[in-house]
Amino acid sequence: MMSSKPTNIPERKDTQLENNEDLSGSPPDIPKLMPGGNYIKPGRDSAKSTCLIFSPPAEQVGILARYLKTFEKHAVNLSHIESRPSARMPSKYEFMVECAPGGDLGAAIVEIKDLSEYFSIISRNYRDNKDTVPWFPRRIRDLDRFANQILSYGAELDSDHPGFTDPVYRARRKYFADIAYNYKHGQPLPHVDYTEEEVATWGKVFRQLMTLYPTHACKEHNHVFPLLVQNCGYREDNIPQLEDVSNFLKDCTGFTLRPVAGLLSSRDFLAGLAFRVFHSTQYIRHASRPFYTPEPDVCHELLGHAPLFADPAFAQFSQEIGLASLGAPDDYIEKLATCFWFTVEFGLCREHGDLKAYGAGLLSSYGELKYSLENKAEIRPFDPPKTAIQKYPITEYQPVYYVAESFEDAKEKMIKYASTIPRSFGVRYNPYTQSIEVLDSKPQVETLVQNVAHEMHVLLDSLRKL
Ligand SMILES: [Fe+2]
Repeated sequence: MMSSKPTNIPERKDTQLENNEDLSGSPPDIPKLMPGGNYIKPGRDSAKSTCLIFSPPAEQVGILARYLKTFEKHAVNLSHIESRPSARMPSKYEFMVECAPGGDLGAAIVEIKDLSEYFSIISRNYRDNKDTVPWFPRRIRDLDRFANQILSYGAELDSDHPGFTDPVYRARRKYFADIAYNYKHGQPLPHVDYTEEEVATWGKVFRQLMTLYPTHACKEHNHVFPLLVQNCGYREDNIPQLEDVSNFLKDCTGFTLRPVAGLLSSRDFLAGLAFRVFHSTQYIRHASRPFYTPEPDVCHELLGHAPLFADPAFAQFSQEIGLASLGAPDDYIEKLATCFWFTVEFGLCREHGDLKAYGAGLLSSYGELKYSLENKAEIRPFDPPKTAIQKYPITEYQPVYYVAESFEDAKEKMIKYASTIPRSFGVRYNPYTQSIEVLDSKPQVETLVQNVAHEMHVLLDSLRKL
């Protein structure tokens, strides 16, 4: 699928796959997942523009013209400008501008700051300026931007891909990439009529995995799975529609699925989690090798990932990783992506002393699901500062698995770890507005404290009535 191989992804070697076959006694079925887990790859933030947010001290006639003159004076071109109500100062408004590269931006910033009561830089071109914060989405519809920032279009296949020489499969992959590329927030997720061959491939994977779930999957997965059968058409003769699964998850935890057309950077992929949005593929692996896929497909997403996102504690844990990533420096994005890998993708947990699997990379792979619980690999407790720097292979079974005592425990550890990330502001997801609030002013925090006090009053009142 990738027109150019990501530099950090080793080439798949057939010998490795054969070794894995020996280990599991089952067909090789290791998805060549990208570091950080799913449909993601560490990499560049594609745009080179710098985003600024500022608000004038008071309603001033012609203030916008003064701002624009300042940019003009320093030869800074604006590629986007918008005004909106201020999130920090009620009844005021603020401007958000996106500055194209070039001109004397530093001098323009000094003057804009002088003209403003509030000023903040949210930059994508932050590598040139260590004081700025990497751009991140603030509203859920900002995730639409990621479609234009994919690192490779999902219709391209590597020469060693099982579907490389199959023109019908390639056309199908292009179809899936196109519908995801054109998807916009708020639209219904595209309904897909899967072919008989595609359904048959799903059926083979579904049947095989169902034999292991009762003994190998965590209790949360086994609890949710029958509900997905009842509500979302999980059957061996039917590939569930993303829309149905997304609606189900939304009812359970507020998580939603979003189709993705190609590789996202780790930064973009993790940012989606902050909004409880999971970027999901919709195509299926090639029919010639039903138990192997070189990249995540609909089997991986719907059998591995989706059930867990219906669990409130797991959903909260996943969102914490996403929130921690917003505006974080590059090296911490890599560390968070590694935590994601060893939990959401390949995590184990303990249940009454026994190990069970909750990672999607395990729950969608018959071979590795068995292997992971056979005591052949090293088992360590999940400990974010240490887990975050653990190296891992992506084309063979994991030599190390990390065990969470519970999702609650893992969440607490993630929150503690997130507080060590160098960032000069706090972030909070506002589910009413589906937006990220950047907490960098006292009035905002005071308002939140008042809200918490109100919540406490409601809780205490309810408690008295019980
Ligand atoms: Fe995944």
